[in-house]
Amino acid sequence: MKARIVGTGSYLPEKILTNFDIEKMVDTSHDWIVTRTGIEERRISAADEDTSDLAVKAAQRALDMAGVSADEVDLIVMGTVTGDYPWPATACLVQAKLGAKKAFAYDISAACSGFLFALSCADDFLSHGRGKKALVIGAEVFSRAIDWTDRNTCVLFGDGAGAVLLEAQEGDSGVLSSHLHSDGSHFEMLYQPGFGTRNPPSFEGLEARLTFLRMQGNEVYKFAVRSLTEVSKEALNAHGFSSEDVGLFIPHQANLRILEATVKRLKFKAGQYFVNVNKYGNTSAATIPIAIDEANRGGLLKEGDLVLMASFGGGFTWGGTLLRW
Ligand code: UT7
Repeated sequence: MKARIVGTGSYLPEKILTNFDIEKMVDTSHDWIVTRTGIEERRISAADEDTSDLAVKAAQRALDMAGVSADEVDLIVMGTVTGDYPWPATACLVQAKLGAKKAFAYDISAACSGFLFALSCADDFLSHGRGKKALVIGAEVFSRAIDWTDRNTCVLFGDGAGAVLLEAQEGDSGVLSSHLHSDGSHFEMLYQPGFGTRNPPSFEGLEARLTFLRMQGNEVYKFAVRSLTEVSKEALNAHGFSSEDVGLFIPHQANLRILEATVKRLKFKAGQYFVNVNKYGNTSAATIPIAIDEANRGGLLKEGDLVLMASFGGGFTWGGTLLRW
């Protein structure tokens, strides 16, 4: 029994924020951002649009593609670190809004690796017979978790959501394996300082800046290229495959330079890997499911193709998943 993707969906908020718009907000330029990151524009949620709203739209599109109704879904696993509330899990809000009455739902906190960590959980449930249909979602509203006066970080992120519907099926298609890793010794290189138990909110000194993402960009960059490369090789080696066997490589879309350095090391050819970071920036846990949906609807995924996905993120966390489309 394998967990096979039978529907994909994504949702990007309507509002586009270009690099030229950001030039008016902080000391930066379109050329600097494009040269260093490849990002040209990103999407920003409307004031009344929360992470759960983005997730519901993406998930509904995945359900519609599969012709499955929400009340048939057994579980919902969602990667996010920008949920509507610190708790309950945003996946629970999504469960209620979709009307997925019989589904149990929970969030995975693995930053940009959240979708692949969530996919691995859902795959384990389905391949062990604990449910037949699972929604796996990556959704983030990072625009509300970054400091719009900090040019080092505000140019990088965007909002969005992607979802896949997994179904337990006999046959060769589906998830082949997931390879997940964490190293918490570097957590301060990419994290949100407030408001957990370390820096709780207080009436005296409620420090809004603590809720903004903090990052040591250079260190994250080096870690990203290394971890994406190693975990991709690990996933391929586990099945005796090489880069040439891969139909489409879908890496986490954080930065075009990271992506190009990785595909060069892995010897992927042009057209063998997916890029959309120019349009949406880094949407964290949402980049991979948005990319899957765009690739699927764009006709880039054919039955039997080998698809390799790889991610890295705060924690640090990193993962690679290989599947047969
Ligand atoms: O999912 C994981 C999320 N995080 C990431 O993916 C981030 C990974 N890191 C990166 O993508 C890169 O490190 C950055 C794009 C963040 C920065 O690029 P870099 O080539 O590593 O630049 P840098 O940090 O070495 O900074 C070079 C200069 C600095 O000025 P000084 O100190 O040399 O005078 C920065 O202050 O660029 C300056 N700078 C900017 N200048 C114009 C930083 N941000 C900007 C900006 N516009 N937006």
